[in-house]
Amino acid sequence: MSEYWTDLVKSLTPYVPGAQRTGTDVVKLNTNENPYPPSPRVMQAIHSVQSDSLRRYPDPDSTQLRATLAEYHGLAIDQVFTGNGSDEILALAFMAFFKGKPALQFPQISYSFYPVYCDLLGITPNKIPLNADYTIALDKFGAASATAEGYGGIVFPNPNAPTGIAVSLAQIKALLEENLSQVVLIDEAYADFGAESAISLINNYPNLVVTRTFSKGRSLAGLRLGAAFASSPLIEGLVRTKDSFNSYPVDAVAQTAGIASIQDESYYQQTISKICHTRAQTIKRLDSLGYRVLPSQANFIFASPGDANERNNGNRNGAAEIFKALDEQNILIRYWNKPGLDNWLRITIGTDDQMEQFFKALSALN
Ligand SMILES: Cc1ncc(COP(=O)(O)O)c(C=O)c1O
Repeated sequence: MSEYWTDLVKSLTPYVPGAQRTGTDVVKLNTNENPYPPSPRVMQAIHSVQSDSLRRYPDPDSTQLRATLAEYHGLAIDQVFTGNGSDEILALAFMAFFKGKPALQFPQISYSFYPVYCDLLGITPNKIPLNADYTIALDKFGAASATAEGYGGIVFPNPNAPTGIAVSLAQIKALLEENLSQVVLIDEAYADFGAESAISLINNYPNLVVTRTFSKGRSLAGLRLGAAFASSPLIEGLVRTKDSFNSYPVDAVAQTAGIASIQDESYYQQTISKICHTRAQTIKRLDSLGYRVLPSQANFIFASPGDANERNNGNRNGAAEIFKALDEQNILIRYWNKPGLDNWLRITIGTDDQMEQFFKALSALN
């Protein structure tokens, strides 16, 4: 703490990302990274970057990348925005659409960056509890949970994090119909792995924003590249906000690599299908070890070793002990010591070989 900090900075509780421990013996299943490398075409594109492209500022509008994304998703270029990871786009969207408005609604158990952005930007959060089965209670959003001042918008990930459970396109449509005067922001960071994307609804709903990332399905977390899709007036709102903060969030290398990634559809599909296959195997094995596993549409699984009674009878470890014991063996998964989450583990889907190492260590703890 420094006396020079503003009161706002003194009050912040920043987001804590999963540990980025390195080493050949580390089995890293804690930050939902893709275990496979990016497309070889991406690596070629990065190697082909000319020194002039680095000497100069990049295209502030990422025109070619946005045109490529627009074509891929069947949209117009002015319905596409790009940023330095979807985290940055979420922050810009919170500034552009939610700051200064009544409370922002999001699920109580969800991406833990949302409350952090709320604190930074002075937005009041209105956290809507999940249903008993851990699904997002979309029927409780909007007017149903509005405060006296109303509500300033809605944000949720689809699939949700850290549960991995997705909502259907029909549910999203119903939500959009009922909340036409508010921005509904759907964070599709994990939609590559099976959830129905709401991008197909962009032309019908002027209040819809969908964010996507190159970090998960496209193996490019280190590049920091994300995109948003929305009606052109909402995109213009994001551009105005970006240009009042940082005109060049997407560097020249990221623009080139992003285009190459989108152009290699078959590599992308192969990687996704390998991860989905390993996910199905992982769920089966966790089931057979007696874990409660939520139905995941993401590249991670949320699993619980069961309640205290079951554990004591079976003399079994709880989530905290399992997390710690695996960590000591350099097998990294994610654990939150927070109400509602403290007996759950989030396990990123790795390669088959990494999952083998994970299960070997886990079975020894059971
Ligand atoms: C739900 C959710 N949204 C957004 C992000 C941000 O991803 P990125 O900034 O790498 O695009 C993450 C990252 O883990 C996430 O879990």
